[in-house]
Amino acid sequence: MSITPIGRRLPDDSRQKVTTASLREHKLHHEPITCLTAYDYATARLVDESAIDMVLVGDSLAQTMLGYDNTLSVTMDEMLHHVKAVRRGVKNALLLADMPYGSYQADPTDAVRNATRFIKEGGAEVVKIEGGEKRTDLIRRIIDAEIPVAGHIGLTPQSVNVMGGYKVQGKDLGAVEQLMRDALALDRAGVACLFLEGIPREVAAMITSEVATPTIGIGAGPECDGQVLVFHDIVNLTFGAPAKFVRRYADAAALITEAVQSFQADVKSHHYPSDEESYHLPRETKAALETVLDRKRAMRR
Ligand code: KIV
Repeated sequence: MSITPIGRRLPDDSRQKVTTASLREHKLHHEPITCLTAYDYATARLVDESAIDMVLVGDSLAQTMLGYDNTLSVTMDEMLHHVKAVRRGVKNALLLADMPYGSYQADPTDAVRNATRFIKEGGAEVVKIEGGEKRTDLIRRIIDAEIPVAGHIGLTPQSVNVMGGYKVQGKDLGAVEQLMRDALALDRAGVACLFLEGIPREVAAMITSEVATPTIGIGAGPECDGQVLVFHDIVNLTFGAPAKFVRRYADAAALITEAVQSFQADVKSHHYPSDEESYHLPRETKAALETVLDRKRAMRR
């Protein structure tokens, strides 16, 4: 175990706490909203301290953190574990938690109970649910339980088996009309914001101008009210070719590999740790120890 102290996270009083109400203000004033995923305390702190508006504990952690092939396997308990860690790192951003597959599809009472766990145990402020029109009754029930809900339409990864893969949605007229109906229904149901994933720019622009709720795009073009990306994508920690819409801002894979290889080389070549990196006995203890050892050596002679 490391005995390196972890610096305490203090709220940044110079920044206003982001709320569901302030997201609406952003939309009204055409100020772009920023959102990144985070799944652990350290990343959450860095993202929050960089003044990002919203932090999403996405179920994408199934892939980025847990190594699953898709988001379908991640459980409520696994999600909660990460939400709690992120909560400890986030002070100013609005904290959203993704409802995982199976936690809201079967039974509305169960869904409200699971959403409540994210708020009560995890400290999240908003829960996110995938799906359009067909989710409106459920979303109203969750909002009735005083829990803000974020909608998510377009390419919804929990529907990967129904969609037949991760494909851009809303490409023909029928699909565009359905997306529009979905967006309007969720807006009327009172979602705090609406994630638009993997849809043509033109469709996202139309939805954004038609709904009162802020739209947060991922692979949905620049006209959305805000943009979200997966943290691991922007720092190259995903071990694969990025999607078209991903912009890589850093190469953490290269940085981490270099650090790990340098540690390996230093230990193998006896260059780590140095004397400066070692603890030492106090002078008196060292002198006393030498006396004891001298005595022992003398007795052995
Ligand atoms: O799980 C996730 O990271 C998401 C974003 C891609 C919107 O839902």
